[in-house]
Amino acid sequence: MKQRILVVDDEPAIRDTMRMILEYDGYDVVLAASGQEALQLAERDNPDLVFLDVKMPGMDGLEVLGRLKATNETLPVVIVSAHGSTTTALEAGRLGAFRFIEKPLSKDYVLDALREGLELGTLRRENRTLRTALESRHQLIGESASLKQIMEQVRRAAPTNATVLILGDSGVGKELIARAIHRNSLRAKERFVQVNCAAIPEELIESELFGHERGAFTGATEKQTGKFEQADRGTIFLDEVGDMSARTQAKVLRVLQEGEVERLGSAKTIKLDVRVIAATNKDLEEEIAEGRFREDLYFRLSVIPITVPPLRERTDDIPALVQHFVAQFSRDSNRRPTRFAPGAIDALKHARWRGNIRELRNVIERLLIMSSGDVIEADDVRSVLRVDSRPSVAANAHGGAAAASHSASSGERPATLREFKEWSERAFLVEKLREFSWNISRTAEVIDTPRSNLYKKLEQYNIKQETEG
Ligand SMILES: Nc1ncnc2c1ncn2[C@@H]1O[C@H](COP(=O)(O)OP(=O)(O)OP(=O)(O)O)[C@@H](O)[C@H]1O
Ligand SMILES: [Mg+2]
Repeated sequence: MKQRILVVDDEPAIRDTMRMILEYDGYDVVLAASGQEALQLAERDNPDLVFLDVKMPGMDGLEVLGRLKATNETLPVVIVSAHGSTTTALEAGRLGAFRFIEKPLSKDYVLDALREGLELGTLRRENRTLRTALESRHQLIGESASLKQIMEQVRRAAPTNATVLILGDSGVGKELIARAIHRNSLRAKERFVQVNCAAIPEELIESELFGHERGAFTGATEKQTGKFEQADRGTIFLDEVGDMSARTQAKVLRVLQEGEVERLGSAKTIKLDVRVIAATNKDLEEEIAEGRFREDLYFRLSVIPITVPPLRERTDDIPALVQHFVAQFSRDSNRRPTRFAPGAIDALKHARWRGNIRELRNVIERLLIMSSGDVIEADDVRSVLRVDSRPSVAANAHGGAAAASHSASSGERPATLREFKEWSERAFLVEKLREFSWNISRTAEVIDTPRSNLYKKLEQYNIKQETEG
């Protein structure tokens, strides 16, 4: 598609020259003779770049610039001016113009500014898309009373420096909540440092958290800053805090009490200003009763406790979550958003959701990958959920060797991305083969893959033709 350039100038001769230069180079050109007209055309024609004169009767260029930028901050604008006044140039720069060229116009300058500007526009748009995607990924979605209450707790806790302890089952959104607290705090511009206490081996966790000096222990060839130090002025998120050893618990408690750390192998203490958020899916009171978690640390951490209920206790969140995930996936894969029929939403509401929102998200993704139509129906949901929670029953229900050998070969549910991809591919193939009565040539043709590849897949996934009855 041709790129569209808007040229704004009250002098007809300049407009003509610009049109010639730009059209010769293959651009689509739109001309405006006044500021007013420029704003109208910008809205109607959505240009990729604007050349803008400053001195015009009526609305001048700088005002037009301000208004253009207010409606579309990514739009690249080149200021074209007869009088190279420094103040005008400065003001234009402040308002967001990226280049200033002087009349009389030179073709080279025009094209040069043009190419640079178009590139800049693309970068800015990409940047904005990425940012929106990122923000949406970290958005807390939900309309249930309990989620609203959590949002309210987040809102109140965020601006304080109080330690927050987030409790809840796996996949309920603890990390998301921790990020929301940081994002809404006065520390939002500083770092959010996450430490998964369960994932770091016991021998390494202290050096990971507090850092070490060179030579502090065998293997410490370089000095290392710890996570607490990295989070200085920001937030540290101690995830799976219930899995810390007694020794580490004691050290973390000290940091919380004293507000300072010592790197391993150093006697120097470092004063820190770190906000601590912790999370766990363990029942800490039980851990305390069993002597596995320090009570004093628990009290330090749980100044503001936030308990996140499992998804099955807040099914009112499901419609909004489904919509959110569908929008996310369709944006990621550049697909038209698929609709969920009311019955399908209902089926989702009645599922068990042991894996909570993470599981819901996986199920939605799977449904979107497997569905060929525009609408997901209740039956689609039920078939995915059935396979999902009861693999052996699902196999029996189909009475086929295909499904049965699947549950035997891949165990419960896919746990990794790769397993999931294979799982989906296999399910898709079985579905298509059934649809075309196990006619390999026909199926291969319809799914647009060479027959040899389909044979290979059948072997790889141990797919065998189902015997009826
Ligand atoms: N309220 C919500 N709105 C939108 N997405 C959510 C919400 N809650 C959770 N999610 C999504 O569900 C997934 C799991 O969330 P998260 O990682 O925060 O859970 P968790 O409680 O930390 O789980 P675990 O205990 O397993 O670490 C993530 O993809 C997250 O983005
Ligand atoms: Mg987590």
